[in-house]
Amino acid sequence: MKHISISASILRKAWISCLLITGLFISCTSEKSETSIEIPEPIDHHTFAKPNEARTTHLDLTLSIDFEQRRINGIAKYQIATALAAEEIVLDTRDLAIDSVWIVNDGLVQEGNYDLETRKPHLGSALHISIDSTTTEVVIKYQTSAEAAALQWLDPQQTQGKRMPFLFTQGQAILSRTWIPCQDGPGIRFTYDATVKVPSGMLALMSAKNPQEKSQDGTYTFQMPQPIPAYLMALAVGDIEFKPIGARTGVYAEPGMLDQAANEFADLEKMVVAAEEMYGPYLWERYDLIVLPPSFPFGGMENPRLTFATPTIIAGDRSLTSLVAHELAHSWSGNLVTNATWEDFWINEGHTVYLERRIMEKLYGQPYVDMLALLGLQDLEKTVDDLGTEHPDTKLKLALINRDPDEGMTDIAYEKGYLLLRTLEDTVGRQVFDEFLHKYFSDHEFKSISTEAWKYYCQQNLLEPNDIEFDLDAWLYQPGIPAEHATIVSDKFKRVNYRVREFKRIARLDRSNTRAWSTHEWLHFIRSLPTSLDPTFYQKLDRVYELSNSGNAEILAAWLELSIRSGYFENHHQDILRKFLVEVGRRKFLLPLYRALVETGKVDLAKNIFEQAKNNYHSLSANSVAEILKEYPSI
Ligand code: BES
Ligand code: ZN
Repeated sequence: MKHISISASILRKAWISCLLITGLFISCTSEKSETSIEIPEPIDHHTFAKPNEARTTHLDLTLSIDFEQRRINGIAKYQIATALAAEEIVLDTRDLAIDSVWIVNDGLVQEGNYDLETRKPHLGSALHISIDSTTTEVVIKYQTSAEAAALQWLDPQQTQGKRMPFLFTQGQAILSRTWIPCQDGPGIRFTYDATVKVPSGMLALMSAKNPQEKSQDGTYTFQMPQPIPAYLMALAVGDIEFKPIGARTGVYAEPGMLDQAANEFADLEKMVVAAEEMYGPYLWERYDLIVLPPSFPFGGMENPRLTFATPTIIAGDRSLTSLVAHELAHSWSGNLVTNATWEDFWINEGHTVYLERRIMEKLYGQPYVDMLALLGLQDLEKTVDDLGTEHPDTKLKLALINRDPDEGMTDIAYEKGYLLLRTLEDTVGRQVFDEFLHKYFSDHEFKSISTEAWKYYCQQNLLEPNDIEFDLDAWLYQPGIPAEHATIVSDKFKRVNYRVREFKRIARLDRSNTRAWSTHEWLHFIRSLPTSLDPTFYQKLDRVYELSNSGNAEILAAWLELSIRSGYFENHHQDILRKFLVEVGRRKFLLPLYRALVETGKVDLAKNIFEQAKNNYHSLSANSVAEILKEYPSI
């Protein structure tokens, strides 16, 4: 083990130093107390890359998108940085066919020696390319396969306009390696340029500087001058058009969705300004959104400069735009300051939920955010309840060795992470906490950070200067929810609780009481109803409020789950449920609904719907649903 001493003031250079250190530990000397503590160098169990020996620094990507074969033909040319004695560079691949490998030594291009290891579960195949100290570039010519988990190819039928096919990618957590050979760890960053050839009439977009119009010949070029980790590589191709919102914000969507989308996200520019006021300048130039077809497996994905979003947030009343604030917030927490490994996932999501709620508070006020935070706390309590208070996956720092990182990505990172930051804010006061976060982002920009380094930074910059005792270890390394945490209350929800009690007692419903309710009040109302009421109660509720006809995907999903679990599930519900599950591929909605079906004995119905729907799902969603169903034999 090798030790070097660095002072706190140059700690910000620690990650760069990490790349130069071959030992396991960096020893940091605190300027204040002169005590020496050790921050272990993060170990990423989900990449084969050995960045301390050789790492990719810039990618020049050439892609040709073949919708007929559902295949991408690619050439990935990497500039690399190597340690003196490096003999190989290792890249991640999964289900890629490698055609040839070339290396550039002292400006001379020659065919390279390489070895593709056998495939390991989740991780894929390490690609070892022989290099020497004169190698400056490696070039890989490759093709994707039908199994490429990052890619979802859609028939025209599965799009809104039904005119052209569509393709989108999803890289997080470790799927980028299924469409680009890359060093696929969140601690390794590179800049990129790309040239993408698509059928004419289609627009291609990436997590980069993007075109706003279709080109004549279907060729597009992209630049991403800021260094990003591989999981943020992204591509979308389809019948897509652009509409500006503000000076540096806009929305892309299929033509038939564009106006609705622009209207829904009218406050986008204001959100960017609000975030900048609190956390420092937006460093990615433009912030655009693309609304994808409904099979997109997530609510949103923070691809730099171009958030990918589900159409299910277009509710018509701008009530679900906290998701946009969330993805925008990742421009600071996640994309600028990145979790070192997927075991530190809470660093991305916990900070992002905190920022999301601060942005929403600035735009829409505290009572609004109290509702979001309380729904979040309910999610957290439910997740801890479902997993068990002692379950290791309820720790913020995850243990994901030999596991698919996807398995650990629960509400814990989001909501326990939020609760930690909110509790810190309550402890030190908002102003001090804001200054701390602002400095945290500027000290770590374009770097990654582990939970251990975060803890040290928090102690040095927040707790010690303010003389505060705070049990960070309990939050970071213990399961369950620490007993002492910020109190989260919502007056608006208290009023909803009153209506819940009234309804449970006498089935009283009066539209005038609920007319002003937002989506969040409805969600709280539906979540608060027991599943054991007499069916006539649910029937009345549905008749008066027409919940089964709700055009709001959040409300509809919550209501359908309640109707399955309560047994008030009539034929028309089955049709509505089937239509929803066949059209929408967002995992957050699918899993609770399939679970409700199998847990209430409707296994055959669940399997029957899944058979019909699965071709519409992204592999991430299809695999998660299949996991649930395989526990339940057909009756
Ligand atoms: N980065 C996540 C999505 C993600 C997480 C993709 C893990 C792959 C693995 C994104 O920022 C996110 O959190 N999306 C949420 C919405 C948010 C408002 C909580 C989602 O998709 O539901
Ligand atoms: Zn997120």
